[in-house]
Amino acid sequence: MPDFTVTPWHVEGDIDYDKLTRQFGTQKITEQLRQDIGQAAGEDHFMLRRGVFFSHREMDRILEQHKNGEKFFLYTGRGPSGDTHIGHLVPWVFAKWLQDRFGANMYFQLTDDEKFYSKHDMSLEDTYEYAMQNALDFIALGFDPEKTKIIINTRNIRTLYPIAAQMAKRINFSNTKATFGFTNETNIGMIFYTALQSAPCFIEDGPVLIPLGVDQDPHFRLTRDVAPKIKRPKPALIHNMMMPGLGGPGGKMSAAENNAIYTTDTPDMVRKKITKYAFSGGQSDVAEHRKLGGNPDIDVSYQYLRMFFEPDDAKLESIHADYKSGRMLTGELKQILVEKINKFLCAHQKKREEARNRMGEFLYEE
Ligand code: TRP
Repeated sequence: MPDFTVTPWHVEGDIDYDKLTRQFGTQKITEQLRQDIGQAAGEDHFMLRRGVFFSHREMDRILEQHKNGEKFFLYTGRGPSGDTHIGHLVPWVFAKWLQDRFGANMYFQLTDDEKFYSKHDMSLEDTYEYAMQNALDFIALGFDPEKTKIIINTRNIRTLYPIAAQMAKRINFSNTKATFGFTNETNIGMIFYTALQSAPCFIEDGPVLIPLGVDQDPHFRLTRDVAPKIKRPKPALIHNMMMPGLGGPGGKMSAAENNAIYTTDTPDMVRKKITKYAFSGGQSDVAEHRKLGGNPDIDVSYQYLRMFFEPDDAKLESIHADYKSGRMLTGELKQILVEKINKFLCAHQKKREEARNRMGEFLYEE
């Protein structure tokens, strides 16, 4: 039995990211590459500095092309199987930063068909509705409407299909089977689907950079194999770690009960979820905690601060030191996080409401 599983449709166990990098055959982001990105961007990003983005495919080539004056575009996406949670925001926030720093065009794919194929209890109407909901969160992050287009698979199939067909012709069943573990019982929508997720990689002529959760890498392994055969540049990727669920370091944030903070949660819900369910790296009682200190590495609240909610290194460092030494109790750490999340969500929810009237600026028109 493997101790962890990472596929586009299933993530489980305590992920060993070094091992995963070897399994997937991706490159670790070295200190040198991190500096090169920072230099090209004109500033560093805390998610890079802290290794939240930890791995890549040909990010160095994108920087080289950028240096030579060649424009790249950005692409990422979301499978609309439910409401948006904060784990989904990690690659989107980073993509927004890349757009700002490099002035790049951005395509965001909402795969309502994919989630219809992969979830036995969801209708196409359900997944389309979630696509609309997820789009609001994406727009709320502040992407430039002049440079950003949202693609919804069932709505934009006319644009996607000719590209997907080029892909589909060059991927055979044993490729997908080996990549995704499909069986003879897998529906053929799923078997074709990877061609559709590949399509936006070639929607513009130039090179593409895809910021994404590492679980989505297998699709683009296939895309990269096919790209030269259709005389197109291979997509470059930059991968983030999965945000852990409230229940602990094993697995990712998911729709399982009391496992996620949603972008639509009220301040009370956030307080309750964090206080009650966020896995703690603290000791069982105060006396022990003061004596032995907490373990920030496994503490979910600390990890949320590190990965998303506390960009200030000095502040994070002092929380780390206080918690580890036992000066700071779990309850105090959780209090800091609750305030951070609620402050973020209060602003986000306002922008999310405004996004309802801005949908038309972002939807891709054929
Ligand atoms: N399959 C992805 C999901 O389930 C959605 C997606 C489509 C995507 N295109 C993408 C994710 C490109 C990352 C990059 O969430």
